[in-house]
Amino acid sequence: MRSNCCGELNKRHIGSEVELCGWVDRCRDHGGVIFIDLRDRTGTVQITVDPDQGTEMFTIAEGLRNETVLKAVGQVNSRPKESINEKIKTGEIEITAKKLIILNTVTENLPFTISIHDDEQIKEEIRLRYRYLDLRRERMNKNLRLRHETIKAARNFLEDQEFIEVETPILTRSTPEGARDYLVPSRVCAGEWFALPQSPQLFKQLLMVGGIEKYYQIARCFRDEDLRSDRQPEFTQLDIEMSFMGQEEILDLNEKLISSIWKKVKNINIETPFPRLSWEEAMNRFGTDRPDTRYGMELKDTSEIFKESSFKVFSNAISSGGCVKCINVEQGNASISNVRIKPGGDIFNEAQKAGAGGLAFIRVREDGNIDSIGAIKDNLKSEQKDLLLKKTNAKPGDLILFGAGKTEIVNKTLDRVRQYLANQLNLIPQKEDKQAWEFLWVVDFPMFEYNTEENRLEAMHHPFCAPNSGDIGSQQEEWKNKLPSAKAQAYDLVLNGLELGGGSLRIHNSELQKIVFETIGLSNNEANEQFGFLMNALETGAPPHGGIAYGIDRIVMLLSQEESIRDTIAFPKTQQARCLMTKAPADVSKHQLEDLHIESTFKEEEE
Ligand code: AMO
Repeated sequence: MRSNCCGELNKRHIGSEVELCGWVDRCRDHGGVIFIDLRDRTGTVQITVDPDQGTEMFTIAEGLRNETVLKAVGQVNSRPKESINEKIKTGEIEITAKKLIILNTVTENLPFTISIHDDEQIKEEIRLRYRYLDLRRERMNKNLRLRHETIKAARNFLEDQEFIEVETPILTRSTPEGARDYLVPSRVCAGEWFALPQSPQLFKQLLMVGGIEKYYQIARCFRDEDLRSDRQPEFTQLDIEMSFMGQEEILDLNEKLISSIWKKVKNINIETPFPRLSWEEAMNRFGTDRPDTRYGMELKDTSEIFKESSFKVFSNAISSGGCVKCINVEQGNASISNVRIKPGGDIFNEAQKAGAGGLAFIRVREDGNIDSIGAIKDNLKSEQKDLLLKKTNAKPGDLILFGAGKTEIVNKTLDRVRQYLANQLNLIPQKEDKQAWEFLWVVDFPMFEYNTEENRLEAMHHPFCAPNSGDIGSQQEEWKNKLPSAKAQAYDLVLNGLELGGGSLRIHNSELQKIVFETIGLSNNEANEQFGFLMNALETGAPPHGGIAYGIDRIVMLLSQEESIRDTIAFPKTQQARCLMTKAPADVSKHQLEDLHIESTFKEEEE
């Protein structure tokens, strides 16, 4: 139907006759001559329609609506000097139309304009409802192409390393990754359910037992969890597993994979090896296991200074097993008022959202003395003040914000406040800065964490991570005692404060796997019922293996500088896990439910 694409035409094509297809981006009538911008996936080109070339064609041009699907036949000419447009690739030429054919008309009112000349902010709800039109806009079109380039770069790299792609089932048993499962009732096996995979974790391990050695998959995963801008109920992993490689080799390979993606997609050279932080250090210095290291304001533990303080909020927090930590806010010229830190203020609100009762604070005056509100200052001895200023490296003009209480809450609070203030004070480097891409590995995660609600240990990542062999020793009898405090051979890749991926070496010894199940409170029977196939497989000569999975949507979000993964997915769900276009999820007929042996207990809430 066409000889060329719109956006590829330039001065080299002058004189040739072309046939183009696309959408009418906009039409302008300039005193008798009509200019049509015709758009396809490659860009736009100007079509000039002169009444002298035929009245029939001119009448078609006069009646064109934006987004009409049009075929234009004409000759490429250079534009008159005064109408050259340097902003677009085709700005030096135009097509003098000889024939226009309407391929399809627009009969509906469009909910928003599509034109590349329009950067109107459209409500996301409307964009999602009419996603097919939103995809026609430049932004989404670009993002989907970038997503494709990202996946292609990953495939090329992995296939050069002899990884093969293997598909794993979508109808399966649930894998414990920590979220709720999406369940699918079986019609044939009445009363029984499949789960959609939260990840291909167990299958990829079984592929290693099956001798595949180097596996990858662009894998769709499903998790029924609270949604955020970086979480979707249905998302895509770049999932990788390999045999006979240790942690160092795996991390090295992954650094090469990531830097090759950044090079191919963005032409950015990423320095390797990536820095590493132990989980413990990340928690101490940043209060989170996915620290944003592009700016300072690190957390300082001041418990030692305040453990005997007469300021009871501090000393009580420490004596009851918690801590007192602080961040030093170098405000520069942007002075932060007390109102913002006190109840009702925006910074106070951030702290409260993280579970804190409030934020104690002091300010360092020009003369080196300190100011504060309330009892901290009155209870601060001069030697404590000196130690504090030394520890925080605080200078005149700085503001020190404190969190006191349970360590978990203090970390969460100061992490949240730190990120909030970095945004407020414009401390985050922009894309052209050297530290715009701060990758780091977080390593040495504990195997388990304590679930206070259920009163038991649970796996920090998942129960298939291998413990550090040094932490459990070689004596099988000791494993049970040593496992609870062991570190895992697990690693997360963090970029600019976002977890891009996570993985580990896996347990390939069935005895050890059994003890891990026991440690998280699974009885032998339960373990056999749920994971019997895995334990059997581990007894058949499972090779040492390990791997990782990346969130592709998140990688693309960062590469495309978008704020939400919804802008990297063709047809995403809303925060309520709905598709606004197809209106899924939706009712099904009674008959369908009967076939599936299901009856709903749901009752509409009364007004
Ligand atoms: P994990 O649960 O850490 O590990 O997931 C790996 C990566 O997947 C991405 N991710 C998500 N992206 C969008 N929406 C979600 N709801 C969502 N949940 C996770 C994140 C995350 O880092 N089987 C293990 C991997 C392994 O051990 O090899 C797993 O799934 O970027």
